[in-house]
Amino acid sequence: MDDLTKNARGDLEQRFLRSKDIAVAAGDLAGRFFENRNALKIETKSIQDYVSNADKEVESKIIHTINAHFPNDQIVGEESGCKVADSDYVWIVDPIDGTANFINGIPHFCISIALCFLGKVRFGVIYDPNQKELFDAFRGEGAFLNGKPIKVSNNSDLDQSMISCGHSFRIKDEIYLGVIRKLLMASAEYRHMGSAALGLAHTACGRVDGFWEQQINSWDFAAGQLLVEEAGGWINESIPGNWLQSGSAILCTNRHLKTALQKITGIK
Ligand code: IPD
Ligand code: CA
Repeated sequence: MDDLTKNARGDLEQRFLRSKDIAVAAGDLAGRFFENRNALKIETKSIQDYVSNADKEVESKIIHTINAHFPNDQIVGEESGCKVADSDYVWIVDPIDGTANFINGIPHFCISIALCFLGKVRFGVIYDPNQKELFDAFRGEGAFLNGKPIKVSNNSDLDQSMISCGHSFRIKDEIYLGVIRKLLMASAEYRHMGSAALGLAHTACGRVDGFWEQQINSWDFAAGQLLVEEAGGWINESIPGNWLQSGSAILCTNRHLKTALQKITGIK
């Protein structure tokens, strides 16, 4: 935290505290839509990529609250794009990560909120309303689940590991299938759960030993990447400078499995 002035730190802490309330309130709203999902209005953005009125309304509630407290901050949201503002503070919001699960009635989705200050992610919050689990991390201060410190797994054996994987139809099937095949050949177990943000959060708390997806958007991984780092894990250094606009490949794991998973995925 040594690159922060006392004032900047205070401003960030204020936003961090607020972000947890925002995530929980947004999760409660998403939960209410989930209970009445027969009434959802669903649109298709691209192949197997959906948006519902719930995603839009949850995002607008989040944006509304951020605007009310921090009117000069910039917000990048999955459903509304970018609120242009000349601000050092950039919020990165995924109102419902796991939308396909959500609309199919699978209770595995979350709210993901991160904040960048001067180009660096400073905190991340992920809320799973179904499990009532709030994951949070402030850079340099560790990662927490419902207020208790969390750590990545200590597993060093690929043949006893479980790796969470993500997929979208933006990626050639050979790439996805190639990595899954190599994982299976190494006797590693894999899961495809449908929420990248929760895959990262579950890596941070050691439920799975890593997360991989070949190309994901910034709002899917901004909060989760910090959780993993703050939980003592490793995340790929190859994330490009323009990740906020372009997204990135994401590979993260504990320190022991890093080299083996780099070899399997080709991600450094
Ligand atoms: C998607 C989920 C999915 C991942 C996709 C994302 P959405 O986000 O995180 O697990 O594989 O790449 O787009 O559409 O549910 O917000
Ligand atoms: Ca998402």
